[in-house]
Amino acid sequence: MKDWFAGDAAARYDADTADMPVEPVVDFLQPLAGGGALELAVGTGRIAVPLAERGVRAEGIDLSPDMVAELRKKTDAIPVAIGDYATTRVDGRFSLVYIVFNSISNQTTQEGQVATFANAAAHLEPGGCFVVEVGTKNRQPLQVFDLSDTHVGIDEYDADTQRLVSHHFTLIDGAWRRRSIPFRSASPAEFDLMAQLAGLRLRERWANWDRAPFTAESTKHVSVWEKP
Ligand SMILES: C[S@@+](CC[C@H](N)C(=O)[O-])C[C@H]1O[C@@H](n2cnc3c(N)ncnc32)[C@H](O)[C@@H]1O
Repeated sequence: MKDWFAGDAAARYDADTADMPVEPVVDFLQPLAGGGALELAVGTGRIAVPLAERGVRAEGIDLSPDMVAELRKKTDAIPVAIGDYATTRVDGRFSLVYIVFNSISNQTTQEGQVATFANAAAHLEPGGCFVVEVGTKNRQPLQVFDLSDTHVGIDEYDADTQRLVSHHFTLIDGAWRRRSIPFRSASPAEFDLMAQLAGLRLRERWANWDRAPFTAESTKHVSVWEKP
């Protein structure tokens, strides 16, 4: 697994994501986290740190030592295992396992995504929930998702293979730099099947963290699968 967030990417991550909403995410997750929360792809702790600050026992898994080093600058209270979230195990059980901001799609194979659901289920106590925030698949081969003076983001999508590449062109110190990150796009129905294989059942699906109804026009979903 390549670490796409090493070096500069980790150093800039919190500044680059500073405009993203955090409170609605934590408001959604906290009621599910009474028995502890495990974040897959915890990164710099953008969500895990404020969740822990509300008194939740929070842990994480991430493969990027540089991203976790950024988290460590904020707190020592969140244990993080370094490794692939599809296979890495931590001790104990949790009432909540979650993965946000499209990070489930960093698994670029169906096998990896199926293994992720199985690993999430293995960490859940009975009645616990796996929460995933992920974009719905693009319908166009090329789509501009961001355009500013310092960043241009273009998604390249191949419907046959479900391969999605997010191209980021970023202006840094007067020079444009390119970073192209591979993803695997999957439909909500395919994720439901992965959940079923892992022994989980769909409890809720929303269009965003504020619980707007999920429709055919929704550009992402927040899905909650429960372990019976
Ligand atoms: C876009 S960041 C999201 C970080 C954090 N969850 C947030 O919302 O800010 C994606 C994170 O996923 C991690 N990641 C990507 N693929 C991974 C994998 N297979 N196993 C573990 N972590 C992975 C990266 O290292 C990075 O920290």
